[in-house]
Amino acid sequence: MKHLIDPTDLTRQETEEIIDLALDIIANRDKYSESCKGKKLATLFYEPSTRTRLSFTAAMMELGGNVLGFSDAQNTSVSKGETCADTTKVINCFADIIAMRHFEEGAALVSALNSRIPVINAGDGSHAHPTQTLTDLLTIKREIGRFDNLTIGFCGDLKFGRTVHSLIKALSRYSGVKVVLIAPEQLRLPDYMKKEVCEVNGIPYKEVSTLEEVMPELDVLYMTRVQKERFFDEDEFDRVKDCFILDAEKLRAAKPEMRILHPLPRVNEISVDVDADPRAAYFRQVENGKFVRMALILTLLRWAGRDDKQNRLIPADAVRNQHVCRNPRCISNMEVNVDSIFRPAADHPGEWRCVYCESKSK
Ligand code: NCD
Repeated sequence: MKHLIDPTDLTRQETEEIIDLALDIIANRDKYSESCKGKKLATLFYEPSTRTRLSFTAAMMELGGNVLGFSDAQNTSVSKGETCADTTKVINCFADIIAMRHFEEGAALVSALNSRIPVINAGDGSHAHPTQTLTDLLTIKREIGRFDNLTIGFCGDLKFGRTVHSLIKALSRYSGVKVVLIAPEQLRLPDYMKKEVCEVNGIPYKEVSTLEEVMPELDVLYMTRVQKERFFDEDEFDRVKDCFILDAEKLRAAKPEMRILHPLPRVNEISVDVDADPRAAYFRQVENGKFVRMALILTLLRWAGRDDKQNRLIPADAVRNQHVCRNPRCISNMEVNVDSIFRPAADHPGEWRCVYCESKSK
């Protein structure tokens, strides 16, 4: 059985198989309309969502399956103090597959460690969002046709934007990928992403302070919302909230074949005068999210009974209960009965990273 907690839980080949299956689903909708008959998807959403939850729901419906779950955890036993591990064990009695979104970093991993059915991470805090990555990859495939030799600019909140972290990880497995980081000082890409993902995989990246200076070289511009809900300090949010705004005027310097992606929701970072531009792919991207989630659910359910499709959820060289995570939003600091688990840092011999959120120890 396999879970999807991090985009690299799928090999590059498995990822491409899921993208290809999504393309086949788009071309032959009727063929899949009963593929998940009798199966149930549980959507466990501890955090707000429109696209992700509803696209999972629509995906399972289009496969002929059923959906149960919650979108307001305060109406569930969570408000009585039930842990993520216990809720997962309970849901295992009712469903065949879980999609979980949680504000605690590492929640989906804890769920997977306590589950006999596949768990899909639908976003864990500011850490990861692998199904948005599949959505982004399918969009790049349909709009641009390749994953190699892409120059991709990430703009906005690169610190808290989990979709950015997951997409960079997935693209770091392709050749000729160049990453351009466009963010204010306070919202720069986390250190582990630069060191362990870009540097270790030989992905060149540069940090710039304006969109204008890089616009002509981009094949993809990935815009993001400043993640208000992750700030500890409201003044800090006010200082950066309007940092980058893409409008039709700035777009004039872009290549005619460039594509603009955004996981949505948008606040003000893309002006509505961009929407009619054929390069604006973000609403087409939303529909791709449904098709790729259909492909993912189908694939994970097919693999559920197979011994050869195991994740190694915890690396073999990890150590338990020897370090404390420095991230206050890590599940190891927020819930009871969660072992602290650290693995050696790939970029720094002698240092350790938390397996739930990839922060360093205190
Ligand atoms: C993103 C998320 O939840 O991380 N939205 C989504 O899933 N499509 C991006 C965001 O909330 O800004």
